[in-house]
Amino acid sequence: MSDPEPVRRIGLDNVIVADTELSEIDGEKPELLYRGVDAQELAEKSSYEETAYLLWNGELPTRDELDEFRAELDERRGLSRGVAEVVEHAPEDAVPMDVLRSAVSTTQVYGEVGETPRENALSVLAKAPTALATFGRARRGEETLEPRDDLDTAANFLYMLNGEEPDERHAEILDTALLLHADHGLNASTFTSRVIASTESDVISALTGAIGALKGPLHGGANQDVMEMLLDIDESDKDVSSYVADMLENGERVPGFGHRVYKEFDPRAEVLKEIAEEVSETTEGPDWYGMLEEVEAYLREEKRIHEKGISPNVDLYSGTVYYSLGIPIDFFVPMFAVGRSAGWTAQVQEQYDNNRLVRPRAEYVGERGVEYTPIDER
Ligand code: CMC
Repeated sequence: MSDPEPVRRIGLDNVIVADTELSEIDGEKPELLYRGVDAQELAEKSSYEETAYLLWNGELPTRDELDEFRAELDERRGLSRGVAEVVEHAPEDAVPMDVLRSAVSTTQVYGEVGETPRENALSVLAKAPTALATFGRARRGEETLEPRDDLDTAANFLYMLNGEEPDERHAEILDTALLLHADHGLNASTFTSRVIASTESDVISALTGAIGALKGPLHGGANQDVMEMLLDIDESDKDVSSYVADMLENGERVPGFGHRVYKEFDPRAEVLKEIAEEVSETTEGPDWYGMLEEVEAYLREEKRIHEKGISPNVDLYSGTVYYSLGIPIDFFVPMFAVGRSAGWTAQVQEQYDNNRLVRPRAEYVGERGVEYTPIDER
């Protein structure tokens, strides 16, 4: 049977290349579902680890199942000497996403990831936040702390980064932020992980590639850009409206606004907006939340919101939330990676379960019939 005519769709926009039971994004309602459960409801009632279990297993855990899952993570949170050295000896100005990517990759070199895809996946979920917190301390010249088995992923991360047990509400907030980033359809990093898995490569390689894809400013990065914009506004002599007006005048996009799928609103942003308002009331310093409201009001006035199909996205509020929790700005994208690891690992498993090598084609548009010129004649 001959191959069907090739379909040309640069960027693969709107092309379906996989079936998934993991997350569903409905841009019309708008709604995000994890395994059919509303992510907003999970954010209110559940936890990141429960959600990771749901994504991996297709159903929410019983208490015993969750305890067992937690125990499996706890026993893997520590880093081997080899991985710790990579992280602790990274230059202090190293880009945290580079450190995280290297740490995840190095876990395999030191054989601490187990044999099966599930063991590999547990290892990433457990060790990625440890590696990041370890780097955060090392670059401040502080000693590495051992992970604690009485704290969950979010609380452990804050404890290992800051050296003190986090405020309970702060840990809950970070847990919710991780949950809201857990999975989001076939975005670029998830697609990358599935392409790698489709070659029957291993989970660690797939996740290393996914972190690399998330690092790009067109994918991760907007949460950091939002915070940098706010800090810049605060330091400038402009008010919020004129700052944003200048951005638009210069043809720049306002970070934290717009989404390819969500045109009315991003359901993740709705949850984080409330949290951003809550933390702003207890955080000293400039009123970041108030500034975001002013940015949004200006864009609304300018009829960018709705008429242009842009509205606040998840990154608008996650940045100020992380900032209020004392997480360094250059850790914002790695935090996205830590949360998304639950989805990447589930997606890789789904790819293995029903695999077909992902192998699109490129149309050759270069020259033909070019004669070879020997090196000394060029
Ligand atoms: N600020 C100002 N104008 C915007 C923005 C923005 N943030 N986003 C879109 N527009 C305008 C855009 O210039 C275009 O105007 P015109 O019709 O005059 O050319 C119109 O809105 C439609 O834009 P588009 O490029 O067709 O929209 P898109 O769906 O391709 O882009 C986006 C989506 C997220 C890439 C874009 O909105 C953007 O660059 N936003 C800023 C960066 C950002 O916040 N990214 C985080 C995305 S959410 C994270 C995730 O889910 O992974």
